[in-house]
Amino acid sequence: MRHLVSIKDLTDEEFTVLVNRAEHFKKVFKNNDSTDFQKNHLKLLGRTVALIFSKRSTRTRISSEGAAAFFGAQPMFLGKDDIQLGVNESFYDTTKVVSSMVACVFARVNSHSEIQALCKHSSVPIINSLCDRYHPLQAICDMLTIKEQLDYEKNKLKVTWIGDANNVINDMAIACLKLGMDVAIATPAGIEMDQEIVDAAAEITKRNGTKIEYTHDSKAASKGAHILVTDTFVSMGEEFAKVAKLKQFQGFQINQELADVADPNFKFMHCLPRHHEEVTDDIFYGKHSIVFEEAENRLYAAMAAIDVFVNNKGDFNHIQD
Ligand code: CP
Ligand code: NVA
Repeated sequence: MRHLVSIKDLTDEEFTVLVNRAEHFKKVFKNNDSTDFQKNHLKLLGRTVALIFSKRSTRTRISSEGAAAFFGAQPMFLGKDDIQLGVNESFYDTTKVVSSMVACVFARVNSHSEIQALCKHSSVPIINSLCDRYHPLQAICDMLTIKEQLDYEKNKLKVTWIGDANNVINDMAIACLKLGMDVAIATPAGIEMDQEIVDAAAEITKRNGTKIEYTHDSKAASKGAHILVTDTFVSMGEEFAKVAKLKQFQGFQINQELADVADPNFKFMHCLPRHHEEVTDDIFYGKHSIVFEEAENRLYAAMAAIDVFVNNKGDFNHIQD
């Protein structure tokens, strides 16, 4: 059994399998052939999939529930006010009990240590559905989206992140480098990437010749970018620091000035939910934006995760349609 905690834990080949599986399930799903669905995909019929979510979610919830249904399982959304966890029951007891009854657990928690504790005590695969450090499902989806839109297999791409240094970019940077893209990360002064990510990134760039650049200059980072991408400046759980963070991020909004120095055919991405401070309306809703295509691809990323980690028990070498 294996868990999906971060893209960092996967070999390049394993990660490629996941992205390709997402692409595969998109085709199957869009084909809408009910015979094919029933014959090949109801592998979890009669089972349940738990979603232990201690934070809000639109995309992750809908995509993981949809992916569970695709394989015939009944998803169970267990929000923080629904179960005993944290009020009446320990993390350990909850993990033992929930995992004894379900096919897998999608978990959206606060700290990375909670994901690690879940993985330690669970008898079924844990799919990290966002913690403070990682967001692997988003990275699978984002790589599928870039593959579809700009084909990183054929073109040498530069992905530029303008924003905070936490969960989404941590997995996205590793994902891009593993698949051969160059990465530039612009954060405000005082906000640096975790050393663990910097070290993992350095190992990949050394191995495959990709490049990663860290800067506090958003315009320099945007130069020649094929992808401009950002995320909220105030992540869930940081609302108490909103005023200070928005001040710190002044000058980091993706706008026409940054678009002007990017590649003329650049695409704009955002994991959503979006706020005005990180991107102007003309970019977010403009012709370069692929945010809604990206959001839809979350469904296929969740299908790929269930298929690889649950249906195929984490055995990447014997993935079957
Ligand atoms: N991108 C993302 O994870 O969105 P939700 O928080 O709505 O799940
Ligand atoms: N960085 C954001 C991502 C939301 C999908 C957060 O943690 O809230």
